[in-house]
Amino acid sequence: MNARSEPNPILSVRNLRTVFETGDGLVEAVRGVSFDLRHKDVLGIVGESGSGKTVTSMSILRLLPPNGFIAGGEIIFDGSDLVKMGTRVLRRVRGNRIAMVFQDPMTSLNPLMPIGKQVGEMIAEHRRDMSASAVKAEVLRLLKLVSIPEPDVRYNSYPHEFSGGMRQRVTIAMAIACEPDILIADEPTTALDVTIQEQILILLGGLRDRLDMSVMFITHDLGVVAELCTRVIVMYGGLIMEEGSTADVFERPMHPYTAGLLASVPNLASDKGQKLSSISGSPPDMTHPPTGCPYSPRCGHARNLCGAYVPPMFDADGERKSSCWLLASEAPFEDNPFKRGGRDV
Ligand SMILES: Nc1ncnc2c1ncn2[C@@H]1O[C@H](COP(=O)(O)OP(=O)(O)OP(=O)(O)O)[C@@H](O)[C@H]1O
Ligand SMILES: [Mg+2]
Repeated sequence: MNARSEPNPILSVRNLRTVFETGDGLVEAVRGVSFDLRHKDVLGIVGESGSGKTVTSMSILRLLPPNGFIAGGEIIFDGSDLVKMGTRVLRRVRGNRIAMVFQDPMTSLNPLMPIGKQVGEMIAEHRRDMSASAVKAEVLRLLKLVSIPEPDVRYNSYPHEFSGGMRQRVTIAMAIACEPDILIADEPTTALDVTIQEQILILLGGLRDRLDMSVMFITHDLGVVAELCTRVIVMYGGLIMEEGSTADVFERPMHPYTAGLLASVPNLASDKGQKLSSISGSPPDMTHPPTGCPYSPRCGHARNLCGAYVPPMFDADGERKSSCWLLASEAPFEDNPFKRGGRDV
């Protein structure tokens, strides 16, 4: 069955919990995360450092370090649960159907092999029927697609002969070599300077349209999300704080954490005449996460209730979800700027 023809989400994560064994005991980095990735969505995942963005994405392909494991939940892709899938079948999903691009291109590239050969190996691994000359032609087509100048000359270059931006283009070429259904990009532009970042973002947006892919885009950068993402998930303390269409979440945040993040981004805040401010305090130590809402120790709206119980996910209108006690219809708070008639889901 081809997931692309399905109206259903291409990926459904349900109540995912991912845990690490550490010298200080168990660290629950992802504490019950549920979301859908729909066909051709570019889903942004944002949140401060340590909120669980990378662990969520690594859990999807079960690429966790040896001390990490999925303690519960389901990750349904094309009708199968990736959490329960045998490693041989999962290996075929990796790269073929779901591909990843990381922050540092050097982690995905072999420094000792010309880049053309590396992209070619990726193709040959997944399409064993192709002749060597057909593979080479495909490599050149991909290098051109990711806008590497003079692909036939650059084919024989080694990674160290490329700039950071060009290297990231090569890893993107490798990631899209098998025309995956889903591309997961974890901070793919963070290590690059601003103009190169912009070019890579334009490239990714264009590829999404040309290749009919869905994209999960993990970033700290809300400006990038505003530019590239159709939907956004805001994470904090291993939980989803808020989810919705990017325009809606950025225009009318329903969670004080989202509002705090937005107020700290110069162009987004000043557009709305907001004063620039950063959220005081720091993210929780996940070895000892606070009981209740993880944001409550930093939240200007927090009441006793917030520190005592994790709020449920309130569903505002099916498209918008937020996990904040302010959204409970019986919430005993005056001056509530976030309330929008939420309903518990
Ligand atoms: N190998 C590991 N062992 C123990 N704890 C880990 C490990 N990897 C991640 N964690 C913990 O999991 C939590 C989430 O980490 P994660 O890398 O997903 O954050 P992130 O949102 O991607 O942050 P950043 O924006 O800095 O990339 C953190 O508290 C981190 O300390
Ligand atoms: Mg990360």
